[in-house]
Amino acid sequence: MRTVAVLSLKGGVGKTSVVLGLAGAATAQGLATLVIDCDPQCNATSILAAELGQPTIADVLERGTRGVLETALSRCAWEVGPGEVDVIAGDPRLVNLDAWGRGTWRPRLAPMMGWLSGYDLVLFDCPPSLGALTREALAASDRAVIVTSPSFFANQGAQRAIMTVSEIVESHNARLRLAGIIVNRVRSNAEEHTFRIRELTRDHGRAQILQPVIPERIALQQAESTGQPVHTLGTQSARDVASAFRALLPQVMA
Ligand SMILES: Nc1ncnc2c1ncn2[C@@H]1O[C@H](COP(=O)(O)OP(=O)(O)OP(=O)(O)O)[C@@H](O)[C@H]1O
Ligand SMILES: [Mg+2]
Repeated sequence: MRTVAVLSLKGGVGKTSVVLGLAGAATAQGLATLVIDCDPQCNATSILAAELGQPTIADVLERGTRGVLETALSRCAWEVGPGEVDVIAGDPRLVNLDAWGRGTWRPRLAPMMGWLSGYDLVLFDCPPSLGALTREALAASDRAVIVTSPSFFANQGAQRAIMTVSEIVESHNARLRLAGIIVNRVRSNAEEHTFRIRELTRDHGRAQILQPVIPERIALQQAESTGQPVHTLGTQSARDVASAFRALLPQVMA
């Protein structure tokens, strides 16, 4: 089982879209995937249409028992195969659990990961913050994937996210490794985007910038509004992003 935290400090860069795109690619390859929605906005939960009424990730964090974790595992509404996607739902109450204090904070989720079985891939969708919720995901993961868009502010946020990954490696999770940075919403004809990708490459090294970058395509917004994995949409725009996720999946899981 490979566990991957998808994070960024900057909001709206595409963390949830990357989690769902990778989950879709994994399903198409026959993998069993679990998405854990650590964001109080609950965007991944709503798109995956988790069953209502089950314990959420907030319950799991608060109560910390095997029974709650196992009943929080919910089938998602995506009708795709040959693999399958389950979800642990997000919860608006998560806002109360994002406070973090250096030296006093202890991960609650990491000790519970051994209770999960039957999944090839676990993806954490993180909120746009580097507080306790993102740190829970990092402490429980083997890989961290940073998502950015090609802009000045997003690149600054990526730098801060990398520092947080290093902190967690040192303090709580020595097996965590940065799988790399996914650059999303790239317009191939925008000079500013080319410049920002060069800047990222210069600052972090070519090996850290996962290839391919994800192009800006309306299909991701269409997939979101229809609640379907993007690879099932069948348009050229959908094929462009789906092939990027297919190529990124083994790099994220390596
Ligand atoms: N490559 C893309 N092309 C076009 N639209 C995109 C792309 N990636 C993401 N979007 C759109 O941008 C919006 C923000 O994406 P998303 O919700 O995935 O970002 P996020 O980082 O998870 O946001 P938050 O920080 O609020 O959790 C969504 O409406 C999504 O459909
Ligand atoms: Mg999101």
